[in-house]
Amino acid sequence: MVVRIWVVEAEPAEADARSLLTPAELSRAGELAREQVRRTFVVSRAVQRALGARYLGVPAAEVGISRACAHCAHDTHGKPHFTAAPELDFSVSHTGDLVVIAAATDTRVGLDVELGNRMIEVDEMTRVLTTAGERRILAGHRGEALRTELFRIWARKEAAVKLTGHGLLQVPFTALSVDGPVVRIDTPPAGWPDEAVHLTDLPLGHGSVAALATTVAGPRTEIVTLPRVADLTL
Ligand SMILES: CC(C)(COP(=O)(O)OP(=O)(O)OC[C@H]1O[C@@H](n2cnc3c(N)ncnc32)[C@H](O)[C@@H]1OP(=O)(O)O)[C@@H](O)C(=O)NCCC(=O)NCCS
Repeated sequence: MVVRIWVVEAEPAEADARSLLTPAELSRAGELAREQVRRTFVVSRAVQRALGARYLGVPAAEVGISRACAHCAHDTHGKPHFTAAPELDFSVSHTGDLVVIAAATDTRVGLDVELGNRMIEVDEMTRVLTTAGERRILAGHRGEALRTELFRIWARKEAAVKLTGHGLLQVPFTALSVDGPVVRIDTPPAGWPDEAVHLTDLPLGHGSVAALATTVAGPRTEIVTLPRVADLTL
């Protein structure tokens, strides 16, 4: 079982990526005032379209992508999915100028990437993010290693709630324990998977700390860095 992961740096990739978007997406990109937000928006939407286009064999702008929530009636805050290929599960994360997408057909996937050099308030983050078991792990670390471990816990939790589509509004950080290879959850919300959610830390480079959640244990991961979004091949 393979999970394919593509990593794109938005700064050089944006120019070419625009040609993959729909007119509505281009118009929305034009409304985004902050340059980095616009860049990652363009590249994120483009990489989703490139993946769908390769899989379905249709032009990128014609790939149907739904963001309808599986857990409520809302039509924009759900886990994105291809309307014509629900069996191809994918998950996207962006941080700084990095856009990453993971995809697989034989497991559900959730991905989160955090930049390890982001400024954080370690004590406050430990308080809002961690469980007692995770704090025992953190107690063995100091300085940079402690920050990295905190980001690792953060990425693992976000990856889990992105696999299920619940997001962090439905499942607060402290309801999840990620100090082992499988996620433990206090009171699973409706729609939480019956099968175990497995965690894999991902060596993506670029100063990132990243985690992949899957419903199959021990996934093989193939990580490809793309200079241009259009270079994505299956
Ligand atoms: C999902 C969530 C944790 C992502 O956080 P974030 O800080 O935006 O993190 P990332 O940059 O790593 O991920 C962004 C990507 O997550 C994906 N995403 C958005 N909502 C998602 C969801 N519910 N489930 C899975 N993935 C989701 C999108 O692909 C998005 O990128 P895009 O907009 O460019 O397509 C956060 O947006 C969240 O908690 N949303 C709330 C979802 C919600 O309201 N749930 C209620 C269910 S009833």
